[in-house]
Amino acid sequence: MKHSPRTALRPLALSLGLAALLALAPACPVAAADPPAVEAKRGMVVAAEPLAAEAGLSILRAGGNAIDAAVATGFALAVTYPVAGNIGGGGFLVGRITTGDDAPRSVALDFRETAPAAAGRDLYVRARELGIESPSTLGHLAAGVPGSVAGLLHALDRWGSLDRAAVLAPAIALAADGFPCGRRTARILANERIASRMMRFPGTARVFYPGGKPIEEGAIFRQPELAATLRLIAEKGADGFYRGEIAGAIVKEMERGGGIITLDDLAAYRPLERKAIRFPFRGHTIIAMPPPSSGGVCLQQMLGILGRYPLDKLGHNSSASLHLLAEAMRRSFADRNRSLGDPDHASLPLDHLLSAAHIEEMARGIDARRATPSAEILGASPAPGAPRRREREQTTHYSVIDRHGSAVAVTTTLNGPFGAKVTVPGAGFLLNNEMDDFTAEPGKPNLYGLIQGEANAVAPGKRPLSSMTPTIVLDGDGRVEAVLGTPGGPTIITNVLQVLLNLFVHGLEAQAAVNAPKIHHQCLPDRIAHERELPADVLEGLRGRGHELRERSWIGDFQLIAVDRRRSLLLGASDPRGGGVARGH
Ligand code: DON
Repeated sequence: MKHSPRTALRPLALSLGLAALLALAPACPVAAADPPAVEAKRGMVVAAEPLAAEAGLSILRAGGNAIDAAVATGFALAVTYPVAGNIGGGGFLVGRITTGDDAPRSVALDFRETAPAAAGRDLYVRARELGIESPSTLGHLAAGVPGSVAGLLHALDRWGSLDRAAVLAPAIALAADGFPCGRRTARILANERIASRMMRFPGTARVFYPGGKPIEEGAIFRQPELAATLRLIAEKGADGFYRGEIAGAIVKEMERGGGIITLDDLAAYRPLERKAIRFPFRGHTIIAMPPPSSGGVCLQQMLGILGRYPLDKLGHNSSASLHLLAEAMRRSFADRNRSLGDPDHASLPLDHLLSAAHIEEMARGIDARRATPSAEILGASPAPGAPRRREREQTTHYSVIDRHGSAVAVTTTLNGPFGAKVTVPGAGFLLNNEMDDFTAEPGKPNLYGLIQGEANAVAPGKRPLSSMTPTIVLDGDGRVEAVLGTPGGPTIITNVLQVLLNLFVHGLEAQAAVNAPKIHHQCLPDRIAHERELPADVLEGLRGRGHELRERSWIGDFQLIAVDRRRSLLLGASDPRGGGVARGH
């Protein structure tokens, strides 16, 4: 890997009195025991589920490019990793595409779900008044109009090289022939709370609980209805999903279960090419997703703030560094929750949020010795915003690089585990519960504890604000240096931030950068969530600065490819927190 020199930046930090702290910063000893990253010469796929990674690799081996392989991996995940992989959800793709002799292009594709035309700002408040339980997270009302099929096929059309039949073939085979159910899927299906919710929906019970019992680990899991849906998509393209038989099945299930997605909503769905967020960081260029993702904006703010400090000198995962990270995170999440949403429906103050002056002001507000209470930044005494559950397996990220140097980062989601828990009968796929990412009930925390603003209120056709942060890093010559991302709700953004710092400030190797313990702060609740591997003295140092701490057993399921230019190698690092793999050739 090519790292920028570990030179201290002009330390604004010194004027903040950090100099005295520099010597007190022991690095966290994470690197020693890490197994090395997987190495490959020509191409690589890193994904959260091995069969899907294999599907992508088979496409690379057959001469497909990174987009072909990403699309194949995406459809395969919908079969082999149903908790998060999907055709009934949505996502974002960030790509660096080299075609022929043209200069490489950076692309950002938004295939986020949209609110149905009948969804208004008070939908979920009213639904709750009518006695509907968890209306934005469970069941038909929770589903947005799915974007994944349109998004993946748009990417294939625009930047792929193979035809639909070729890239869908591995997914169709996996669905039709079946595969041994993986441990993770079996474990989540057996979870009592999940099972009791899934079994309420007959289509879901039939696919995942045949005979009333969850599919067990190792049992051959065949999904003939899903195979038929995928064949229709291979044959007819997006129309095979958004019109005709499948659209009809979705709407019939909506009518049966009190949902509001119509044939018109489905026919109107379009993925959108957007201008990627691009900004320099220590000689590298970061390419990330713009709104309706908050990922790119927050990364630019947080790296902008942290670039003013000598983090390398303060030490990797030292309490002095982590304090600054938490303060940068806190400030960026305050902006995110207050001001971001779908740019086509709300006017977003991006010029201000990303201006050097604003970022400078955010940095200046940080006290290196003391945590700033979030209430001080928000100017009110806010509701606490406790997350309702932990996140890892409900979203998934995959990273791909091909032999031409093209790179693709995709994060895709149903939102919660198995989304709305509604499987479309006869069509074999689950619907998302992405509507909960809106400010569904103003003033109340959502599934991830986020309390969001007016810019993210529900409106017909609007896309909910997301934290998904598929990211690509270029070196000074514009060549791909890293492709990365993770699930984890709001922790996605802060996790991507930390892996970038681990690679490009602290000089950690790819696998060590992924494995290192992580922290998270999202302004509200006003506390640092941290993985348990952080040493006690580091935690003490954070407490001493006034932070409340909360331990979490894990943060994220990272999938990284880094390019080692010196050795002409691709390094694939899949997160040991999950069950993913790096597969290369
Ligand atoms: O788009 C978002 O921000 C959320 N729907 C992502 C949810 C997620 O990552 C859950 N996690 N593992």
